[in-house]
Amino acid sequence: MTLPLVASALPLPLLRRGKVREVYEVDREMLLLVASDRVSAFDVVLREPVPHKGAVLTQLSAFWFERLATVVSSHFLSADADEIVARIPALTEHHASLVGRAMLVRRTTPVPFECVVRGYIAGSAWAEYKKAGTLAGEPLLPGLVESARIDRPIFSPATKADVGHDENVTFIHVVRALGRPLAEQLKRASLGLYEGGRGYAAPRGIIIADTKFEFGTTPDGRVLVIDEILTPDSSRFWPADRYTPGGSQPSFDKQPLRDYLADLKQDGRWDGNAPPPPLPREVVQATSERYLEAYKRITGRSLDIG
Ligand SMILES: Nc1ncnc2c1ncn2[C@@H]1O[C@H](COP(=O)(O)OP(=O)(O)OP(=O)(O)O)[C@@H](O)[C@H]1O
Ligand SMILES: [Mg+2]
Repeated sequence: MTLPLVASALPLPLLRRGKVREVYEVDREMLLLVASDRVSAFDVVLREPVPHKGAVLTQLSAFWFERLATVVSSHFLSADADEIVARIPALTEHHASLVGRAMLVRRTTPVPFECVVRGYIAGSAWAEYKKAGTLAGEPLLPGLVESARIDRPIFSPATKADVGHDENVTFIHVVRALGRPLAEQLKRASLGLYEGGRGYAAPRGIIIADTKFEFGTTPDGRVLVIDEILTPDSSRFWPADRYTPGGSQPSFDKQPLRDYLADLKQDGRWDGNAPPPPLPREVVQATSERYLEAYKRITGRSLDIG
């Protein structure tokens, strides 16, 4: 049984602590990504860990990396704690905190753009379309409603902002920054991965409305998909059986959490900023169950939680 983990502490150099994951340096060629059970909503990281969330993110990414390897090569090396410890003996005593949640990856130089693909019109894309009739600066069919499905998914890149929100940019912006060949390659790879993911998840009851990929380059000039892919944290997952275009959709994974926090805000019991309010056990539990359910629906198997 893996215990809920708020933050990992491993005897390796810590390169970065994100909202959810820690990134450790293994050596010049490899990194170790560790997904904690931290959860964020409305841009605030909650205090309570959501049991099994980190393992769901890591194992779901591993599933997709293997499944979509024919579409794009990835940084994935291993998500098996035994194998990771065998390769990095310094972690032997930390085996328990790696199980399910750690991923050994090939180290790359990240491309400085978030490669977003949208198959449904939601969030900032809906805001842009409503205002200007465009998506990522390009005109879209008129008359689409909020959350409408777009037959041909759209590549909608964004800059990676270290602080604050990422900013949407046009494809031409990426071409100018990276050169046309690399920009085209990223676009093709992103659309291919998204199509593969959306097509696989939809008949299993989950709409992947949009998602964000990151890519990195290797010293020998290869472009790999890195980071996490097609997870609830990097994508909008919607329950297919409740899909009703013409408004916003519930989130497959975070809806219990969002509803709880939205009620507190509405009642004036939380101002929406850190520090976050404490979460009742039922809300944490319901959220955990949603993550496990997403994993099960997509992969067809239960997460091994010992
Ligand atoms: N193979 C790789 N090579 C180099 N960098 C990588 C690789 N895989 C992932 N990364 C980097 O690891 C970092 C993961 O940290 P990040 O801040 O995104 O964590 P997070 O918990 O997802 O937080 P946030 O919610 O802020 O996105 C990213 O900056 C990503 O570019
Ligand atoms: Mg991230």
